[in-house]
Amino acid sequence: MKTIFITGASTGLGKAAALLFQANGWKVYATMRNTEKRKDLKTIENITVLELDVTKPEQINEVTAKVIADGGVDVVLNNAGYGLAGPAESLTDDQIVEQLNTNLLGVIRVTKSFIPYFREKKDGLFIAVTSLAGLIPVPVNSIYNTAKTGVEAFYESLAFELGDFNIGTKTVSPGIIKSAFSDNVQIGLMDEYMPTFQRGMQAMAFDTFGSTSEEIAAIVYEAATDGKKQLNYVAGADAQKHYEHRLNLGRQGYINYLDDFDPKK
Ligand SMILES: NC(=O)c1ccc[n+]([C@@H]2O[C@H](COP(=O)([O-])OP(=O)(O)OC[C@H]3O[C@@H](n4cnc5c(N)ncnc54)[C@H](OP(=O)(O)O)[C@@H]3O)[C@@H](O)[C@H]2O)c1
Repeated sequence: MKTIFITGASTGLGKAAALLFQANGWKVYATMRNTEKRKDLKTIENITVLELDVTKPEQINEVTAKVIADGGVDVVLNNAGYGLAGPAESLTDDQIVEQLNTNLLGVIRVTKSFIPYFREKKDGLFIAVTSLAGLIPVPVNSIYNTAKTGVEAFYESLAFELGDFNIGTKTVSPGIIKSAFSDNVQIGLMDEYMPTFQRGMQAMAFDTFGSTSEEIAAIVYEAATDGKKQLNYVAGADAQKHYEHRLNLGRQGYINYLDDFDPKK
């Protein structure tokens, strides 16, 4: 039986992925900060709920050691994360540190803790949920963009570093997922940036798109099972449309496009 280890499995994509892999005959370690939140998952066969906050290195090491002792895992899915929006100058140092600590360092810590185990058995796959924001600049989201771009860079770097040990790394980069994410996003607002923010949101037309957690979980499942050497999966019609546009325009061209966007044209 194949086994997957998932972070942030209490809601949204992480929970949907836990249920999808279980339904397909996998053993699932569904980890979350507060295990009381998901008593329902605890009752499902082959799902083990464990407490894990990705900002706690000691807890990560303990949980990793426990699941390895229990029989190990085939796939590690780094999913935990939350949104931080708003102009950089509006955000406090604590907000920035917490965002990077969770969305970037959390992925680095959890991945690193499983590397020796995968390296010794010469088999394993890491998947990280990044975002369209890891591929292109989502307007007025600079710190979140930085965290997710950092994960993309980390996984691309590991693809080379771990290849000799038959360890794969993949990123899944969704656009909008209809989940609790939008309720939990921290937002820094400043009137001075409203024209920039509104222009950017109109250019990206996020309100007209969006995937369900289940749809993105299906792409994570594909990434886990297709056997391909494929670093990145751009997930959802919105992400595919914007990423293709950005590739066509290039880096500076895309900034110019956002700068000049006029909804009336
Ligand atoms: N929703 C979107 O539009 C969207 C778009 C692109 C990418 N993403 C990415 O997709 C992933 C899943 O998000 P989602 O849409 O499913 O949102 P969600 O429903 O809010 O789920 C986020 C999960 O991350 C967990 N989490 C947050 N901080 C954590 C920490 N320090 N340690 C462990 N778990 C932590 C949350 O746990 P608690 O229940 O304890 O808060 C929750 O389980 C995230 O990485 C997000 O950045 C989301």
